[in-house]
Amino acid sequence: MTDQPRYDGGLVAPGIDTTRPSVARVYDYALGGKDNYESDRELYRQIMEIAPETPVWARANRRWLSQVITWLADEAGVLHFIDAGSGLPTAENTHQIAQKVSPDASVVYIDNDPSVVAHGRALLLDNDRTQFTAADLTRPDEVLADPAVAGLLADGQPVALVMALMLHHIHDYEQTLAIAGQYVDALPPGSYLAITHACNPGDGGPVDQLVTELLAKVKDAFPTLAFRSVAQISSLFHGLEILEPGVVRLADWHVPGGRVEDDPQPGIRDAIYGGVARKS
Ligand SMILES: C[S@@+](CC[C@H](N)C(=O)[O-])C[C@H]1O[C@@H](n2cnc3c(N)ncnc32)[C@H](O)[C@@H]1O
Repeated sequence: MTDQPRYDGGLVAPGIDTTRPSVARVYDYALGGKDNYESDRELYRQIMEIAPETPVWARANRRWLSQVITWLADEAGVLHFIDAGSGLPTAENTHQIAQKVSPDASVVYIDNDPSVVAHGRALLLDNDRTQFTAADLTRPDEVLADPAVAGLLADGQPVALVMALMLHHIHDYEQTLAIAGQYVDALPPGSYLAITHACNPGDGGPVDQLVTELLAKVKDAFPTLAFRSVAQISSLFHGLEILEPGVVRLADWHVPGGRVEDDPQPGIRDAIYGGVARKS
């Protein structure tokens, strides 16, 4: 029997295909969320056979997000945030993290997964400094013309553009570079770009072997997924000042001026790199 969990006490929201895994919902399941279906859970079980540390890197990525948003709101004084490829609402979302520091912080979330759109809009209805835009991030012209995005960029104040675990869903590297560049060009001076991205060191070592096996497993479900080299990920920050500690494994990342938090669990999260950069 097809698993058909209910949405908002009613039917599954329109446009949501529960028969095929969605990256947002598989990730939600990895984080312990409830907004997923049997097709998502089945793929997740297959991923876990290859990479049992998957929930560890998913949580490490959310912790990175929390540290970055807190630092940007607090130390860098940023009041405008764009969370591009936001995913399903989870325990601590960008607006909650930012508004804990600065109640005036504004956040625009962007995603094109119908499950995210439905849940994101529902969650954010009660927060007047938060908006949700349903858009395909591979179409920067359309995204930048969206009233919520254009409105946030219009007053010329620094904006933090967060693309966490999103850009590796654009398969072609040159296209990814061009898209990231177009968004950066639209940011006012003093803005920030924060990225996490799947990485393959390409050295034939254990992480290389692991991600190669993982890609083969998920290629039917997520055909555009691309693990990239550290050099390629670093180039996404082209023209920006990359802050310390640079573009590094999530395990080695810390806020500028801070230090690495002890986290004894190595694994697949060694294949996730993150970095933050400033536009002059
Ligand atoms: C793995 S989730 C990451 C969620 C969140 N950023 C995080 O790091 O916790 C990737 C998200 O990117 C979204 N995404 C991927 N490609 C996209 C595109 N072309 N346009 C908009 N959203 C996209 C997916 O729908 C999904 O919600």
